[in-house]
Amino acid sequence: MKRFIGVAAAGALLIALAGCAGGDTTGAGAGGDGEVAPEDIVVGFAQVGAESGWRTANTIDVQAAFEEAGIELKFSDAQQKQENQIKAIRSYIQQGVDVIAFSPVVESGWDTVLKEAKDAEIPVVLTDRAVDSKDESLYVSFLGSDFILEGEKAGEWVAAEYADADKVNIVELQGTTGAAPANDRAEGFRNIIDEDPKFEIIASQTGDFTRAGGKQVMEAFLKSNPDIDLVYAHNDDMGLGAIEAIEAAGKVPGQDIKIVTVDAVKDGMQALADGKINFIVECSPLLGEQLVDIVLDVVAGNDVEKRIVTEETTFTQEQAVEALPDRQY
Ligand code: AHR
Repeated sequence: MKRFIGVAAAGALLIALAGCAGGDTTGAGAGGDGEVAPEDIVVGFAQVGAESGWRTANTIDVQAAFEEAGIELKFSDAQQKQENQIKAIRSYIQQGVDVIAFSPVVESGWDTVLKEAKDAEIPVVLTDRAVDSKDESLYVSFLGSDFILEGEKAGEWVAAEYADADKVNIVELQGTTGAAPANDRAEGFRNIIDEDPKFEIIASQTGDFTRAGGKQVMEAFLKSNPDIDLVYAHNDDMGLGAIEAIEAAGKVPGQDIKIVTVDAVKDGMQALADGKINFIVECSPLLGEQLVDIVLDVVAGNDVEKRIVTEETTFTQEQAVEALPDRQY
């Protein structure tokens, strides 16, 4: 609620109301059904940055959902820097927003600022990415994908695609170092391919989830590894950068070197439909509506689920051709 009333005054008001009504003081965050008008709610959202097509789609979706719901959304772009995100969260705490939502750039190093939010009694919702904090009371809910499962889906496609091969040389374009999707997509992929020694990750490096990063790292991979069979890119943008590097090296992406990526944004799906990418594991950026629902519940004092996993699919070339005309992002 727009915190125009000082905390002490609000507390006094609640005690007075409890006296009159015979007891129910269950307002926002107090564990009850205290519905609050959307226009009285203020949310601070600390976004990672604008590193990828996925991120842009996520920002647009979140902003549109809050506008549609009539809830004020304060927005900040951390330009992929943890210190900027911490500053933004501290500023939201100072402004006394009702809920803070954020997508952590990296997994570690959040306990201090999350404790500050908790002390200020501002609930925090994690969207898209997790933190590795042991203290789960520091956030009320985590809405986002199962990144380990995404990595496993990529690995399963690779295992099936190369079922008859003797040896498969893989290069990996990792996401931002320390980010949950980079850690988990690497882990999930290895969960599958490590079952068969014919699969070898001959090089692995971060491309920071950007197209430019993917291109640059792939150029270096191509120079030092003449026998690359497959690129596993942790997102479409890095896969698209790798395509540019492969073509510049005179090879045919999707044929000479196969590519599997994660996300399924429009540009990635187009490359899949064109046969330059071979398989995409979906990671949905459309989290806005669910985030609005969580915020409304949290502010009303209702229980929310601690973990809400996004539903996702995978795409082959044929499925991409079919899905492309209706793809929103
Ligand atoms: O956290 C989700 C990941 O972040 C997306 O896969 C990637 O494209 C983005 O930058």
